[in-house]
Amino acid sequence: MNDEPQRPATTIVAAAPRHEAKPADPCLMVIFGAFGDLTKRLVVPALYNLSRTGILPQHFALIGVDLADGTAESWHEHLYAMLKSFVGNTSAEFEVEAIDEKAWNSLASRMSYVQGDITKPDVYAKLGSEIAEAQKKYETGGSVIFYLAVADRFFGTVVDQLGQAKLTHQEEGEGKNGKLPFWRRVVIEKPFGHDLASARALNAEIKRTLHEDQIFRIDHFLGKETVQNIMAFRFANGLFEPLWNRDRIDHVQITVAETVGVEGRGKFYEATGALRDMVPNHVFTLLGMVAMEPPVGFDAQSIRNKKEEVFSAIPAVPSENAVRGQYGPGKVLGQPKKAYRDEPNVAKDSNVETYVAMKLEIDNWRWAGVPFYLRTGKNMASRLTEIAIRFKEAPHTPFEAGPSTAPPPNWLVITIQPDEGISLQFEVKRPGPEVTLATVRMNFAYTDWFPKEPNVGYETLLYDVMIGDATLFHRADMVEEAWRVVQPVLDGWARDKAEFPNYASGSDGPAAAEALMARDGGRKWRPLVAEKEART
Ligand code: BG6
Repeated sequence: MNDEPQRPATTIVAAAPRHEAKPADPCLMVIFGAFGDLTKRLVVPALYNLSRTGILPQHFALIGVDLADGTAESWHEHLYAMLKSFVGNTSAEFEVEAIDEKAWNSLASRMSYVQGDITKPDVYAKLGSEIAEAQKKYETGGSVIFYLAVADRFFGTVVDQLGQAKLTHQEEGEGKNGKLPFWRRVVIEKPFGHDLASARALNAEIKRTLHEDQIFRIDHFLGKETVQNIMAFRFANGLFEPLWNRDRIDHVQITVAETVGVEGRGKFYEATGALRDMVPNHVFTLLGMVAMEPPVGFDAQSIRNKKEEVFSAIPAVPSENAVRGQYGPGKVLGQPKKAYRDEPNVAKDSNVETYVAMKLEIDNWRWAGVPFYLRTGKNMASRLTEIAIRFKEAPHTPFEAGPSTAPPPNWLVITIQPDEGISLQFEVKRPGPEVTLATVRMNFAYTDWFPKEPNVGYETLLYDVMIGDATLFHRADMVEEAWRVVQPVLDGWARDKAEFPNYASGSDGPAAAEALMARDGGRKWRPLVAEKEART
């Protein structure tokens, strides 16, 4: 029996007043990859949510561009079918009780479709006419967002073609209520490059057409409330920041563990792998939030400067400080899973990793000597994204040493998903005549304090593009710094063949990842399942 103290059921509910955002100014949005997965699962549901919550511009229009034969009607029917599938579906991107037909119709009635090959100039001529027509019909003014929901090999070409068709030119023009700035912005999905050289080349290529302030490199991790909360937690409280440094922190563990495998994305994954798919983008997003210095202001420039500054202080990771893994067969949450090499469109002798762990250092005053351990993997024992900060042990303990009296270290854990919240682990005296210690947790769960909004995670990001706030988007230099840090690992792995598979589906990852930790004075990864259960 577990005799550790259990957290009582939470009873507090405080409805903090919600800051209501205003509808964004008129604009038009063009989605390249209109019939693609990302568009129907995330981008359009997010626009629907903005429409539902009344912050989509009142004058707005949406144009889809794709190679598929289609019409405005067939396109919105296709999108509506996806939205319908979210109703009452607990495993969907976001679960809704019912579709708000008014909000959907208001969006659907402003959609049009342009069919064509995005590598050919004629589609841009057609698009230009469609934009002009929609601008007139829906009074959207001259501002346009181009969303590139297409495979990364098309990013450069689309931007180049948009430039040649003069669709990215920003001008001042007459808006409905007087003078409106006309802007043209381009949203670029990940992966942004597949190594340092290609990321640099892509930046150089798109900057021939666009200014940096027109480019919104999207990373949906930055749309997660709990990721944005890290800054509030650190910089809106006087309590934690004095502890947030090498004097008090022993090390930091960042975990992004998924219970899904490659889910039919074998082709993409074979060309990408876990490192490129997750580390220089999503995991670095978390790292930047935890490790950056306090910004002077909350504007995009100040915050992105601080993130870039911390990334540039990270020495490139030598390949001996990284471990790769690939899942074999096993069971995840009781369900049998096949090996990665048996997934569709995956080579039988694939050398592609589905798991990465690495250790990195940050060479600055705050973090010198504090290792950051990062890990991410598919088909793991439990779904868990967390940042765990392990504090140094007490310098001296008056309690007798022994299994029940030696105090374990304090942990501060920020859970990004699935149970969003913050938990602080510390020691208390167990009730009774003897002085023995027990480890307890003080837990803050988002759901105890705030109503849960149906959200796919792209809403804030799309709204920010509309209002021109680039705070939550990666700047060119940040992207390049992140690739620089992981480049030696990519090079080392490209040279040597791995012994795969090396972890069972449903496990905590390969043994070599444990060894990576253990060699630093016997440190251990936090077990995935036990940690999750302790908080739920
Ligand atoms: C995507 C990756 O960017 O992020 C996927 O390509 C990964 O492989 C996904 O599964 C994880 O995102 P989330 O929001 O489900 O944690």
